[in-house]
Amino acid sequence: MSDLDLYSSLVLKGEAEEIEIVSAYLEKLCLGVNINKGSTSIYFKNVDKKKIDHIIRGCSDLVSWAWENIEAQDWMHNWKPYFKDVFIKDRVVIVPCWNKKQYSEKIVLKIDPGMAFGTGHHETTELMIRFILKYHEKNMDVLDLGTGSGILSILAYKLSSNKILSIDNDPVIESNFKKNMLINNSNAILSIDSCFNIQDFNYDLILANINKNILIDLIPQMISKKGFIILSGILESDYDEILNIVNKNNFNVIDFDKINEWIGIVII
Ligand SMILES: C[S@@+](CC[C@H](N)C(=O)[O-])C[C@H]1O[C@@H](n2cnc3c(N)ncnc32)[C@H](O)[C@@H]1O
Repeated sequence: MSDLDLYSSLVLKGEAEEIEIVSAYLEKLCLGVNINKGSTSIYFKNVDKKKIDHIIRGCSDLVSWAWENIEAQDWMHNWKPYFKDVFIKDRVVIVPCWNKKQYSEKIVLKIDPGMAFGTGHHETTELMIRFILKYHEKNMDVLDLGTGSGILSILAYKLSSNKILSIDNDPVIESNFKKNMLINNSNAILSIDSCFNIQDFNYDLILANINKNILIDLIPQMISKKGFIILSGILESDYDEILNIVNKNNFNVIDFDKINEWIGIVII
């Protein structure tokens, strides 16, 4: 995912009605919104600013905007009150760890929004979650490649997986991952390692929300697998390239989903 800064806020100025229209378009992509008279701040993590600029231009000529980068340590204080819960497929809700609200009949994933990717606000995470809900069965062994915050491993745990191995090559995610496992009572095991060092792909469910270039090299290594492989981190414009690798390695795409320009697929 290119051209992304970790944390940023967008300040919109203009008529309240116009700001409301723009905010409605950005609602799905942001962490939270703070509406004030005359100016509104919208908080993002891992956002593609060019894409957001494009969306705003398409929505209104009467709104002006400016980006502000925020130091990670100040960030938590600035946006915490505006973090919005993310609901997926009417079954899952992702809430920040300080949220004490009760959600009955939902799978609640508690996330401490730290330095790791995976708060549930990104389209690719949502695509992964939609497919996990569809393909996960009780007692499955799950391999979560590019685990980040561990959000997908937490869901796998809450769906009663047997064993969960979570892999990420970025040591920065470790403390965030561990905290998230603790607050969700999840027993997923973390290994800080490259997904290319994995020898055993014998899992019922393999999850990989990474990026096109990694997936292109990874797919040929997964031929020994026995279960479903759920992939995201793929732009729709790169689908043909991915499909080519999938077919070349004798996999079949059995499911496809899309949110905005991002796609997710399931292969066997
Ligand atoms: C888009 S995030 C996905 C986070 C989370 N699984 C989700 O779905 O929201 C991708 C993660 O893959 C990790 N990653 C990138 N290249 C990797 C590699 N070669 N091996 C293992 N992890 C990798 C990154 O550090 C990052 O945490």
